[in-house]
Amino acid sequence: MKAIVYNRLGGSEVLEYVERPAPSAGRGEVLVRVNVAGVNFMDVGVRQGMAWNEMPFPRGMGVEGAGRVVAVGEGVTGFEPGQRVAWVYAPGSYAEMAAIPADALVHVPEVIDDRTAAAIMMQGLTASHFATDFYPVQPGDVALVHAAAGGVGLLLTQIIKQRGGKVIGRVSSADKVVAAKEAGADHVIVDAEGAFAAEVLRLTGGEGVHVVYDGSGPATFQGSLDALRRSGTFCWYGPVLGGPKDLNIMSLPKSIKLGYGVYRDHIATSELLRERAARLFSWVADGTLKVRIGGEYKLSDAAHAHDAIAGRASVGKLLLIPDDAR
Ligand SMILES: NC(=O)c1ccc[n+]([C@@H]2O[C@H](COP(=O)([O-])OP(=O)(O)OC[C@H]3O[C@@H](n4cnc5c(N)ncnc54)[C@H](OP(=O)(O)O)[C@@H]3O)[C@@H](O)[C@H]2O)c1
Repeated sequence: MKAIVYNRLGGSEVLEYVERPAPSAGRGEVLVRVNVAGVNFMDVGVRQGMAWNEMPFPRGMGVEGAGRVVAVGEGVTGFEPGQRVAWVYAPGSYAEMAAIPADALVHVPEVIDDRTAAAIMMQGLTASHFATDFYPVQPGDVALVHAAAGGVGLLLTQIIKQRGGKVIGRVSSADKVVAAKEAGADHVIVDAEGAFAAEVLRLTGGEGVHVVYDGSGPATFQGSLDALRRSGTFCWYGPVLGGPKDLNIMSLPKSIKLGYGVYRDHIATSELLRERAARLFSWVADGTLKVRIGGEYKLSDAAHAHDAIAGRASVGKLLLIPDDAR
């Protein structure tokens, strides 16, 4: 089978499209044919050494996808060959076949196509957790959403709006404004320098926002603090770009609540994974949640997808399709 692997950390040039033996389903695993693999900003961070450094080289790339069950390993119940499935947080998804831990799999309803299913696993589960659990948005709340035209950003914006909140989005370039507005953002600020707080305060009559969702690194951190209202909530979630260097807790203003939302904690069990994935699928099916596919690349072209997301050129979700299936 064909797969993307990397033998060293670095830029997108380390990604290699190679022939590899197909994996088999070990105990507790399900062998799947990958129809679509999702690209996440996290993949860029992993490629640069942010996580999973205990894995030997060559390492597989990618953590999510959708496809069909080919075989079921020992001890697995609830999955059978031929069934449609999607998964998340399973390394090695940029491949034609993958052995996925059964705990990371969900069934995909007939009304949801593979592209949509793959697109909402990591980013949709993250966005829905942020708006319904990390800070359960209430009607009338005002939220600041960074990278509002990105994968998480477009979904988060829609879920906040669905709950009756208002959204101020921040994007880095004017060509992303339309996408953020189409997702429901009430205002969109174009800023790539971290100079957005004054505009947020102006838009909120000097009060600031109830919640800021910020995965955009050190450049936005201070502005996000400044944009919050008293007792506001700061949901920080951007390990790829990193956080402020030395954070003195006594420097935090306005009695804010600051937390780091981590996928493994907010989707900690397979039961919760399946419940939350089913909720997302139902929102897509009833039209409440629209999934924007910003680009489809051949699996062999994964490096270009990485360049697009890391170069701030992507809008919505980027997907990889095995070359023979395109
Ligand atoms: N903690 C968790 O559990 C968790 C789970 C999923 C995702 N995440 C995080 O959520 C964020 C969004 O992830 P995603 O997969 O949906 O990606 P994405 O938003 O589709 O793409 C990344 C976005 O980050 C923004 N960005 C800001 N500064 C950047 C820089 N210096 N270089 C490149 N991009 C920059 C860009 O938007 P602008 O150009 O408009 O600023 C870019 O579109 C990432 O930080 C990711 O690590 C965290």
